[in-house]
Amino acid sequence: MDDKNDIALKLAWFRKEEEKELQELSKLIDFDACKIDCQKLKVKKNIDKGGYGSVYQGIYDDKKVAVKVFHLSAVDEDSKFELRKSFLQEVLLSKDLDHPNIAKFIGAMENMKEVDMKPKKKFDKSQDCCIFSEFLSGGTLYQYLRKHKKLPINIVTRLALDAAEGLSYLHSKQIMHRDLKTANMLLDKNGRVKIIDFGISRFDDLNEKTPAIGTIGYIAPEVRTESKYDHKCDVFSFGICLWEIFCCSAYRSVALKMTPQIPQNCPKALADLMKNCWDDPKRRPEMSSVVERLREFEASSLNESAKGPTRLLCFSR
Ligand SMILES: Nc1ncnc2c1ncn2[C@@H]1O[C@H](COP(=O)(O)OP(=O)(O)OP(=O)(O)O)[C@@H](O)[C@H]1O
Ligand SMILES: [Mg+2]
Repeated sequence: MDDKNDIALKLAWFRKEEEKELQELSKLIDFDACKIDCQKLKVKKNIDKGGYGSVYQGIYDDKKVAVKVFHLSAVDEDSKFELRKSFLQEVLLSKDLDHPNIAKFIGAMENMKEVDMKPKKKFDKSQDCCIFSEFLSGGTLYQYLRKHKKLPINIVTRLALDAAEGLSYLHSKQIMHRDLKTANMLLDKNGRVKIIDFGISRFDDLNEKTPAIGTIGYIAPEVRTESKYDHKCDVFSFGICLWEIFCCSAYRSVALKMTPQIPQNCPKALADLMKNCWDDPKRRPEMSSVVERLREFEASSLNESAKGPTRLLCFSR
C-alpha cells in the first residue's frame, strides 16, 4: 500500500474514533430538555467575537440572555471536532449547576435552524450550535480591574470570596474548571462575580490522562509537566486571580513555576493564602478552606474598619 493510501486510511480511522467520542458525549445530554422556545427568543447585538464563536445579547421570555454560538460551519474538519466537543462539554458540565457565583445555564441547541437571526454569509445555522445563559451586564472582572488603580480591601475580599465560593461549588460537584482567570469571571448588575466558560472543563478523574490546557500565567506548573493532575490546578489559578484582584493588575508570567511578587502592603492573611495556593498541588488548600479563610479575613477587616475610618486597609501601588 502506498503512503497516500495509508494516510487516508489512518485519517478515516481517526475521524470514526472522533465521531464515536462525540456520540458518546452527546448521549449524556437530553437536548430536548435543554431546548428553548424559539418563539420567545430575540437575538440582538453581538457582544464578543472569537475565531470560532460569537456571543450575542438576546431577550428570552422577556429576560436578557447571552447566546454563545459555536460556528462549526466556519471551520475545517479537525477544528469541527474540537469545537463540537467543547460545546458538548460545556453543556454537559454547566446544565445542572445552580449557584449564585456561576452564570446560570438556560438552554442549548445542537443546531440553530429555528433561531431567528441572520448569520454572516460564511456561517450556516444548520451546522452551528449554541448555549443560552443568564446575561451578565457588568463586563469581565479582568476589565473591571483594569479600570481601577486600587480597591478598598472590603471590595477585594468580596470579589475574591465570590470567585472562591463559585469555584468551591464546582469542586464539590467534582468539576475542575481548567481555565480559571479574571477574563472568565463576569460581574452582574450588583457587582457580584460569576464564573463562566466551561468549554475545557472536565470531571475530576485522577485515572484519566489530562492534556496540558489553560491560559499562560494562570496555569499550574503540573498542568504543563505532568500527564495527570486534579482540581488543585484551579486552586493555583485562583491564587493568581486573588493577586490580580488585590493589585488591580494583570499578571504576565515569563517562566514556568514563576509566581507574582506580592506587594509589601498586602495583609498577611491574603499573602499567606496566595502563597499556599501556589504551593505543590498536595499542599494547596481545598477551595472550601480558602472560602473559610477569606470569610475570617472579611470578618476581621470589618472589625478593624468599625474601629475608625483611618484603619480601613487600602491597597495602593
Ligand atoms: N453570560 C454572559 N453574559 C454577558 N456576557 C457574556 C456571557 N457569557 C459570555 N459573555 C461575553 O462573551 C465573552 C466570551 O465568552 P466565553 O469566555 O464563554 O467564550 P470563549 O469561547 O472563551 O471566548 P474567549 O476566547 O473570547 O474567552 C466574555 O468575555 C463576555 O464578554
Ligand atoms: Mg473565555
